[in-house]
Amino acid sequence: MASPQIDVDEIVETLEQIRQRGHSAHTVFQDWVNLMLFALQRRDDPYLEIVDDYRTRGDMDHPEGKRSVDLFSKAFGQLQERMVATDADVLGAAYEEYGMSSDAFGQHFTPHTVCEMMAEIAGVAGESETHGRQTVLDPACGSGRMLLVAGRKQPDALFFGQDKDPLCARMTALNCCFLNLDAYVIQGDSLTVEFQQAWQTSYSALGGSVRELDEEEVSELREWVTDAFENTVEDGTQSRATERAGSEDRTTPVTASVPSEQASLGAFESSD
Ligand SMILES: C[S@@+](CC[C@H](N)C(=O)[O-])C[C@H]1O[C@@H](n2cnc3c(N)ncnc32)[C@H](O)[C@@H]1O
Repeated sequence: MASPQIDVDEIVETLEQIRQRGHSAHTVFQDWVNLMLFALQRRDDPYLEIVDDYRTRGDMDHPEGKRSVDLFSKAFGQLQERMVATDADVLGAAYEEYGMSSDAFGQHFTPHTVCEMMAEIAGVAGESETHGRQTVLDPACGSGRMLLVAGRKQPDALFFGQDKDPLCARMTALNCCFLNLDAYVIQGDSLTVEFQQAWQTSYSALGGSVRELDEEEVSELREWVTDAFENTVEDGTQSRATERAGSEDRTTPVTASVPSEQASLGAFESSD
């Protein structure tokens, strides 16, 4: 069930009209997410491949405005409207309401109020301990809801999301782009540190952009993130050892600080 405060009925109804033409719910939702992601990247070829697939299945027989491609873009408009109206992770709520969640992967997203509280506890809106740019990491990001809430509190931070489910990783990339955040979103298992695909979203005054990284960039990103994480763990171990006398050991569930010189998009881009 979707988060109760987010009304996604209109979106689900629109997607449902496509499903009733003989497609599986998973195919419809996945195609919708991919169409949005390809459109935002201006990647015509993979976009048209999906459109052609519907066309060969008789999509042009429907009147204009009622073809599946029209309904996909209508759902995109409805998503944008709901995001503006609710300030929330509407895409993730639609995913849950449309029955996409996998119990095996534990795909039940955190209610917004709990995300808010966790971001507060993790000190996302506060001063960075390293006095550099804050970094916010969710290694099992689902639709990217935690990052979204953190991004509203601290839009200048650098965000990292990882999920082993390709559809979840794509939803996070879309959400980070919609919110105009600087982010890296990785598809892969965060326990075994596998990076299969990755997207970079970038802030701009005119609105966010998104691009998929190529294979070489993905492996460079993996190296960079692994080094940064190891440095953070080492720093954390040292500072905890000195703080242990008299104070409680606290861990931050959502944020991890990366040394500021590494936490810049330039560090990655310059290795092209
Ligand atoms: C309970 S959901 C939480 C999503 C999000 N963090 C939130 O709070 O709304 C857990 C997510 O972790 C992902 N996941 C499970 N095991 C994982 C792994 N080893 N590596 C990366 N992601 C994983 C699942 O696909 C699922 O989307």
